[in-house]
Amino acid sequence: MKKKATKTAGPVMDIGISADDRTEIAAGLSRLLADSFNLYLMTHNFHWNVKGPMFNTLHQMFMAQYTEQWNALDVIAERIRALGHPAPGTGKLFASLTSIDEPEGVPAALDMVRLLVAAQEATARTARGLFPLVDKANDQPTADLLTQRLEVHEKTAWMLRSLLEE
Ligand SMILES: [Fe+2]
Repeated sequence: MKKKATKTAGPVMDIGISADDRTEIAAGLSRLLADSFNLYLMTHNFHWNVKGPMFNTLHQMFMAQYTEQWNALDVIAERIRALGHPAPGTGKLFASLTSIDEPEGVPAALDMVRLLVAAQEATARTARGLFPLVDKANDQPTADLLTQRLEVHEKTAWMLRSLLEE
């Protein structure tokens, strides 16, 4: 006979957000974490491999971006934990959760910029897509986190996009 599914042992959690909402929000934050990780890795990769007359500008700019991104990973993962769920932390899980494709080979400098604009925008869309649920669930800390991430990704996308304009 099948055993009845039981909840994980531990104290009952009641922060005023239903278990179902916490599960859904954690799933959305896991997708945001995966996008943020892939964006981080792409930016650091391009910091290492960029070439050409814009080397110094892009090498430095990418460093500022990946450093900010790296610190954000921890904040997103720990919000998932505070909602009572495990944070994804393997390459396999990130690959299955992300909306961002990994770059092939070493793109030319401006192609790196184009790929980063797209990845910044994709990460913003993932964060924004989660907002209605978070709002409905009255989850202010996640709403605050999403707002901060949106501000960074939209501003960074603008700065990168500006490199492509005349
Ligand atoms: Fe470096």
